[in-house]
Amino acid sequence: MEENALESASARETILLASHNKAKAREMEKLLAPLGYRVITADRLGLNMEEAKETAATFAGNSMIKARYAYGLIRGAYPVLADDSGICFHGLDDFPGVNSARWAPDGHTDYAYKTRKILDLLKDNPDHSCAFHCVLTLIDERGAHQFAGVCEGEAVEPRYTGEGFGYDPIFLAPTLGKTFGEATLEEKDAISHRGRACQALINYLESIR
Ligand code: IMP
Repeated sequence: MEENALESASARETILLASHNKAKAREMEKLLAPLGYRVITADRLGLNMEEAKETAATFAGNSMIKARYAYGLIRGAYPVLADDSGICFHGLDDFPGVNSARWAPDGHTDYAYKTRKILDLLKDNPDHSCAFHCVLTLIDERGAHQFAGVCEGEAVEPRYTGEGFGYDPIFLAPTLGKTFGEATLEEKDAISHRGRACQALINYLESIR
């Protein structure tokens, strides 16, 4: 960790997001700024989150691993927020679940491949139901707190109009009547796994103000 970076960031109302994902940080910042928090990423403090090995079998377990790892490295200087998320296809015994980012062979990282492969696996399966999961872990001086969000949907042929990422184009949200790949960010946030977990986090932060 870079000591200078740690000292230069104001300890007041700062939350460290245990992630290198700038898009996630911007999303969290947008949600938490009205409560008086600013969100900094692991990069800002020179932390390498790749070293936090996600070995748990649950989203809650892996979220806790990331949060504890970062909180330990900064010796509790700031509250730490970590998230773990993924998608479970019920007809495939909840595959890929906690391995949503890592299951593809030969290092395939592109989601066109992953989503096509999932649809192939579901081809002769009548059960196309699935669910996105997200568990946020906040560690502060009061201890560790977890906030979970789930969003149920159905796997469909890809539909994408420019928003969204990952599995969004094949995730049909029944209440929207469109896939997350077609929904606006606002529409997605209002019902998504991450949106719901964030709302639970916000309720908690408001309760301790
Ligand atoms: P992580 O929590 O950033 O490690 O993401 C886990 C995996 O789940 C990644 O492969 C993401 O693409 C996928 N994932 C998590 N949330 C979403 C989402 O909102 N839309 C699409 N894919 C998601």
